[in-house]
Amino acid sequence: TTPELILVRTEGRVGIITLNRPKQLNALNDQLMNELGAALKAFDADDGIGCIILTGSEKAFAAGADIGAMATYTFADVYKGDYITRNWETIRSIRKPIIAAVSGFALGGGCELAMMCDFIIAADNAKFGQPEIKLGIIPGAGGTQRLPRAVGKSKAMDLALTGRMMDATEAERAGLVSRVVPLDKLMDEALGAALTIAGFSQVAVMAAKEAVNKAFEGTLADGVMFERRLFHALFATADQKEGMAAFLEKRAPNFTHQ
Ligand code: HXC
Repeated sequence: TTPELILVRTEGRVGIITLNRPKQLNALNDQLMNELGAALKAFDADDGIGCIILTGSEKAFAAGADIGAMATYTFADVYKGDYITRNWETIRSIRKPIIAAVSGFALGGGCELAMMCDFIIAADNAKFGQPEIKLGIIPGAGGTQRLPRAVGKSKAMDLALTGRMMDATEAERAGLVSRVVPLDKLMDEALGAALTIAGFSQVAVMAAKEAVNKAFEGTLADGVMFERRLFHALFATADQKEGMAAFLEKRAPNFTHQ
């Protein structure tokens, strides 16, 4: 079935997903999250795709979970229906890199969605925040866990407890985003990064993502051991032989993703 709340296209080996509920500032409802999950899985399974970009509109990456849809939910509704986990965690299972290209509001679930991506490139008009406290709730899709890991306890507490927004400059200084660019350069910048990544060995790229994610999830000793095992394993790939031979022969590598 054709998705209705997202747009999907490709540029070379890059898959681009645009959240497309502009009137609601890309508020994230079940249908949108299901469509997003299906599109991500399809790109992950496609050998012709090496990197994915997730973006929104100029005004909003996403202004959060859909408050209208949530307003009358009871505890039993969300608990029995496994609200959030059911269709929000698909993104974590994607093994190819996902770049969030964020302009405008990334609030609540929108900020959490951006943080579930592998890195964030922000336009200079981006605004990040976890305003759930103003609605009588708290973040529910990893915000209280990923934000402190990204920006430290003090700033994460400040954002989660006051509900204030931070602009792109503050977000870059805090380490939440990797780059800030003018709004009209956002997609060029994200696409440039994605095409670079998609040109490398797919095996090495997936291993790098998996290893960096370990740093978020476990102890240093376990992470270092995990990294070493993957590092050693990459010597079994054709792309390692090709990449190193190409360097020594002073030519561009021709990766076959094997
Ligand atoms: C449903 C939303 C929405 C949301 C905006 N809209 N955010 N609808 N859910 N999260 C709708 C508005 O109701 C309005 O619809 C239209 O989008 C435009 O929004 P305005 O408020 O008119 O725009 P503006 O004045 O520019 O203000 C932008 C804003 C504000 C600051 C982003 O919309 C806002 O504060 N939104 C809520 C942000 C928020 O609280 N997010 C956290 C949600 S809870 P109409 O029909 O009136 O034009 C959450 C929990 C996550 O995310 C849990 C894990 C999933």
